[in-house]
Parts: sequence; C-alpha cells; structure tokens
Amino acid sequence: MVTVAVIGAGGWGKNHIRNFRDILSCHLKTICDLDERVLAAHKASHDDIETTTDSASVFRDDEIDAVIIATDAPSHYKLVCDALDAGKHVLVEKPMTLVPAEAEDLVKRAEAAERVLMVGHLLEYHPCVLQLKDLVDGDQLGALRYIYCQRVNLGVVRKDENAWWSLAPHDVSVILFLFQAEPVTVTAQGQAYLQQGVDDVVFAQLKFADGRMAHIHVSWLDPHKSRKMTLVGADKMATFDDMEPSEKIRVYDKGVDVAGSIVAWDLSLSLRTGDILIPKTHGGEPLRDECLHFLECVQKGTTPRSDARDGLRVVRVLEAGQRSLQDGGVPVDL
Ligand SMILES: NC(=O)c1ccc[n+]([C@@H]2O[C@H](COP(=O)([O-])OP(=O)(O)OC[C@H]3O[C@@H](n4cnc5c(N)ncnc54)[C@H](O)[C@@H]3O)[C@@H](O)[C@H]2O)c1
Repeated sequence: MVTVAVIGAGGWGKNHIRNFRDILSCHLKTICDLDERVLAAHKASHDDIETTTDSASVFRDDEIDAVIIATDAPSHYKLVCDALDAGKHVLVEKPMTLVPAEAEDLVKRAEAAERVLMVGHLLEYHPCVLQLKDLVDGDQLGALRYIYCQRVNLGVVRKDENAWWSLAPHDVSVILFLFQAEPVTVTAQGQAYLQQGVDDVVFAQLKFADGRMAHIHVSWLDPHKSRKMTLVGADKMATFDDMEPSEKIRVYDKGVDVAGSIVAWDLSLSLRTGDILIPKTHGGEPLRDECLHFLECVQKGTTPRSDARDGLRVVRVLEAGQRSLQDGGVPVDL
C-alpha cells in the first residue's frame, strides 16, 4: 500500500484525486491546495481525506510515501525540490519545469535521493500511442520518415503559459517516444492575439540529424477540437485520431516505390494504394494507466517510462521552441 498526497487540486488535479482514490493499491491521505474554496469542494465529497493549504506539512508527514504535483507549471521546480528533499517519490505534471537548467537539477536530485521522479506525459500511457509504438518498433510502417500532429480547440486559454508550453508537451513527448531521438533544431512561429506576449497559436518544426522531421500545430483559438497525429513510414502510413470514439488508429498500405536507377523519373516511381487496416484499439483511461505505472515504479523501485530524463528532453525542446518563437521563427539548435 502506497500512501499518497495530491498537491494542486484544480482542473487537472481533481482527475488525479479521482484515480488515486479509486486505485486499491494506494491510500490517498491528503489533498493540498492554496485555495480554501478548492479544498472545501473536495472535503464535501471526500470527508475521509485530510486537506491543507500548506505543502510543507505534506512533506513533513512520514506516512506519505509519494506526492502528485498538479499545480501550475511555474511552481513545479520548487515543490519537486522540497518533495525530494523530504524523501518523497514524485509524479509531477507536465511541463516538468519551465527552464532546462532546473529540469537538469531535478534529474540529479532524484537520482541522488534514489526516489522515483515521473512526469505526467499522459500520452505515453495512451493505449493507442503504445499501439503506434508497437507498429513503429515492429517495423510495420518501414522506416519512420515524418510525423505531424494537431492539438487545437477553443480554450482553455491560460495566462501564465502560452499555447506552446500548455499543449505541445504532449506532442513533443510522443514524437521523442516514437522516434527515440532528440531533434537537432527546433523552429517555431506563433502569434498572440488575446493577451500580449502569450501566443495563442504555434506552428513548430523539429528536425532530426538523420533527416526525420515532425510538425506540431497547437492552438486554443480554433473552431475545431482536433487531436490528430499522422505517421509516414517508408512502407506504410498511420493516423491516430483521439477525437474518434472508436477506430482511432488507421494503418494505410500507401507509399511510393522507387524502382532501380532513375533513368526516366516518371517510369521509376510507382504509387501504392492498398488496404486500410483499422486495428482494434484497447480502451482504458490513460490517466489511470499513468497512475498505476507510477505506483508500480514506487513499489518495485523501477524507472518510469516518462522519467525525469524524459521530462528534461521535452523541456529542452520546448525551451528551444520558445527561443525560436521570440526570434521570429529562426531555427534554434539543441
Ligand atoms: N496531463 C494532462 O493532460 C494535463 C491536462 C491539464 C493540465 N495539466 C497540467 O496540470 C497542471 C495544473 O493544471 P490545471 O489546469 O489543473 O491548473 P489549475 O489552475 O486549474 O489548478 C492548479 C491548482 O494548483 C493550486 N496551487 C498552485 N500553487 C500551489 C502550491 N504551491 N501549493 C498548493 N497548491 C497550489 C492552485 O490553487 C490551483 O487550484 C499544469 O502543469 C498543467 O500543464 C496536465
């Protein structure tokens, strides 16, 4: 039995609370939030759970083994430091930090303390992303050439972070997960329409040393709710549409075969448009799987799929993208 506390019980933290309360292998002892009204709402429905506005009291509590930090991003670094210093295992929401140097420091601190530090890169726990990963690793698409993704909606408009930092951590983490590589350059262009200096829409490119690339479009100022990803391999192509209630993945036997040496270009290329396969996808709430994975890592002392090093890689890409945004879209080397 792992005893846990959730720090930050707002819009997303309440989903952690629901899951950690439902999972039988853990005991949710405490909910912590700076806002008394937020705590009162949770107390009304979970009167057996302690509430506090003081995170230090959570860290002092010897019964608590692990904390989930779901506060706003600028507070992550300090809270994770305090939690690790107190000997707690930590699941921190994305983005792990807003500064690569702080993310590097957290990697070192977690390793020195021999505590689990996991980052809430939710999509790495999505059953469909794991199916895509199996397709890629099983060479069923051929060499993966490029990926593009779109994560757009109307809202939630944030004020402390722009759409890039708010939405793109999901896409960046999946792209690095599928490619198993870090990009060499990041290029991003965006625009702030609603609040000065806070980009509402961002188009970004990640280029990898071997010629692979990825494109990310994020926005909270869009008429569509879209969460789509397209993978183009040398042999086949695949799509993942998370807005579909079922049939979220499609594998297209489509490609262009290049025959022999190119004497006459149009004769040497043959377009292939074969079957479209819709694999059966597994259900399950990705956040529940993420929470279960965290508890298992705490219990067994194993390294999480989205560990602190993964968090650092994502923060590096986000920060490079931010620099590119500020410099009008120049490529930034990593
Ligand atoms: N994984 C996902 O899919 C996903 C989705 C949404 C949000 N998030 C992430 O979750 C985090 C929280 O986002 P949100 O939408 O819930 O924000 P929110 O503003 O709704 O909630 C944050 C809560 O944290 C509390 N808080 C802030 N500092 C605190 C501190 N020092 N101690 C205790 N409580 C504190 C605030 O009072 C607030 O209630 C962000 O990092 C966000 O990026 C992740």
